[in-house]
Amino acid sequence: MTRSVEFTGIKFENPFLLSSAPPTESESNIMRAFDAGWGGVVVKTIGLHPVVNVYGARTKFFRTSPDDNNVSMKKRPGAALHGSWNWELISDKPLEWWVPRIRRMKEAHPTKVVIASIMAGSGSDKELRNWQILTQGCQDAGADGIECNFSCPHMDRKDMGSNIGKDEGLCSVVTEAVKEVAKVPVWTKLTPATQDIVVEAAACFRGGADAVVSSNTFPSLPIIDPDTLEFEINVDGLVSSGGLGGPAILPLSLANMARMCQAFPDRAFSAIGGVSDFSQAASYFLLGAGTVQVCTAAMLDQAIGPNVIKRLNAGLDAFLEKNGWNSVEEFRGLRRDRVVAQSKIRRPEGEAYQGGYVEGYAMPDESTTVSS
Ligand SMILES: Cc1cc2nc3c(=O)[nH]c(=O)nc-3n(C[C@H](O)[C@H](O)[C@H](O)COP(=O)(O)O)c2cc1C
Repeated sequence: MTRSVEFTGIKFENPFLLSSAPPTESESNIMRAFDAGWGGVVVKTIGLHPVVNVYGARTKFFRTSPDDNNVSMKKRPGAALHGSWNWELISDKPLEWWVPRIRRMKEAHPTKVVIASIMAGSGSDKELRNWQILTQGCQDAGADGIECNFSCPHMDRKDMGSNIGKDEGLCSVVTEAVKEVAKVPVWTKLTPATQDIVVEAAACFRGGADAVVSSNTFPSLPIIDPDTLEFEINVDGLVSSGGLGGPAILPLSLANMARMCQAFPDRAFSAIGGVSDFSQAASYFLLGAGTVQVCTAAMLDQAIGPNVIKRLNAGLDAFLEKNGWNSVEEFRGLRRDRVVAQSKIRRPEGEAYQGGYVEGYAMPDESTTVSS
């Protein structure tokens, strides 16, 4: 029985990575993450443009409680995590800061996987060249792979972040530019804020991507406090669209993963969204993903998720043992074909079928409502 997987030609001692986000924003975090047992990390996105984050908090957590069913950043006793909300930009450290650190991480942990997340614009040849400069800098430092960030949801520039991920032409062109110089596998991280993510995934594969990664956070707003009339997170009363992650996005991200895995059953996918223990990771593997990444749950567990990775590894071991499988590969994709068109789902026939006109339908009475 083994936890190890091979994904896009890279060997992982386990299929669990910290995603590109605050848990991977520094060398010390990443070293701690490796000591804690993560199979790999995707380094916080590195760019060539200067980055200045907004005043104050860049991430907050939505909680909900059985008393009020409200999704709010206000702390209440007994409230459970609903999601994370952030408007953080990419790393504010330049490429020159990251290069020696990537080198040291790999020297200290040669068996762990370091993927460098990178981002530039796409509106000119100079910007496409920037993707190549970032790729070459990171791979020369020893990164095992590149993850192209086509998914940051809070970019004003029309040629950057999720604006690339919403445009199949740009997805292909940028991937091609990166592949031109890459000697290591290239993953592309797509935005969920698109009509049909299969279109952009196809474009990335046309450009030569070795894997597609999904999801980044979903564009979203914090709620307005009805007492103060202010957004629960704001600067001078103002807010911009930010990104929702954590448990709230698990079903949404599963749906995107299912569509892509069905469209490209032989391609590699790395899954992200709402994972905090093995039960959620299992869903992604069963749909066909080959690795799983985590952000929100790790942020809330000593910044890098030492308990999260313990639970993921223990959960995988127990799952393999219980089912008599030897590796992730033996169950990966087993439920890929169970997602079908609505018309393929069996209906009650004859007497049992009421033609949709059940008396009391949509009334709050469990004996007459259709179960959900
Ligand atoms: C504060 C914060 C910063 C993030 N920064 C990045 C980033 O720089 N690059 C990136 O590709 N994704 C970034 N993400 C997205 C995460 O990597 C991940 O895709 C998302 O949070 C969904 O995973 P989760 O449900 O486990 O949180 C960020 C997320 C958060 C919460």
